[in-house]
Amino acid sequence: MTIQAHLRRLHLQSPQPERLVDFYVHTYGMRKGQVPGLADGDGAVASAFSAMAPGRQVMASGGTANQLHYFLYSLETQAAWASFMQRTAHVPKADVSAFAELPDDALAFRDPDGHCVVFASADAVDANEMGNDELKPASNAQTLPPAVTQHLGIRTPNIDAMAAFYNEVLGFVVSDRVHDDQGQLRACFLRTSELHHALALFGAPVSCFDHQSFEAPDWEGLKHWADHMGDLRQEIVWGVGRHGPGNDVFFMVRDPDGNLAEISSEIEVCTPDRPMGIWKHEERTLNLWGKAIMRS
Ligand SMILES: [Fe+2]
Repeated sequence: MTIQAHLRRLHLQSPQPERLVDFYVHTYGMRKGQVPGLADGDGAVASAFSAMAPGRQVMASGGTANQLHYFLYSLETQAAWASFMQRTAHVPKADVSAFAELPDDALAFRDPDGHCVVFASADAVDANEMGNDELKPASNAQTLPPAVTQHLGIRTPNIDAMAAFYNEVLGFVVSDRVHDDQGQLRACFLRTSELHHALALFGAPVSCFDHQSFEAPDWEGLKHWADHMGDLRQEIVWGVGRHGPGNDVFFMVRDPDGNLAEISSEIEVCTPDRPMGIWKHEERTLNLWGKAIMRS
């Protein structure tokens, strides 16, 4: 049984947040918006920028490149939301009062690496997204296939503790683990719904954001997105390939801060009784079709 949640939003840190959001607006056919950002030490409120399209949203405001302010999952039913609140009633909550754009009912936690992971009911997130300002329409959005926020990846030097936190404390289900020859965990794919992973953890020397993925409905859609990147002269830096864990086809580009940004499709739909898989730590696991970006 999963917690029945879906990833809905990333709020990235960036030394140049407007430039970062402009990339997502341009490259992914999203609308640009602006929301109140974090207050500085003098109480002045900086701007946070958002890129929005149906099913996908990225925010950015001032901070360190390749780090997250937070990532937000929605619980898809009121029963799932109630169950999640009960499960986490004893878990210390993180203070997210600085993020005025979050729904009032949001619950937030700090994982072992200090990332802020936020949860809210789907109804609250839906209402919250509609409440954000819209500055201008995306000029190229009409010609692009759908693609919805689906998962993110995080690099961590504490992968055992991170995997245990998301699995044992928050209730994510481990779909697949990747082990090296010594039996050490090197990557872990966890799901919050029937879709194979909503969070991917990669063992690495540093703790940082790795990538987010927008899921296209099918291979034709992914091909259309790849042609779109070609038209924009936006270099595809990895792929097209097929991941082992999740079996999803994918390609990745890089945003101006160096974060990877993925379009994926055909991700595995897991049955409740699917056994956890163990994969070997090698390039072929991360790309059945060839080369991989190894994080360590
Ligand atoms: Fe991915």
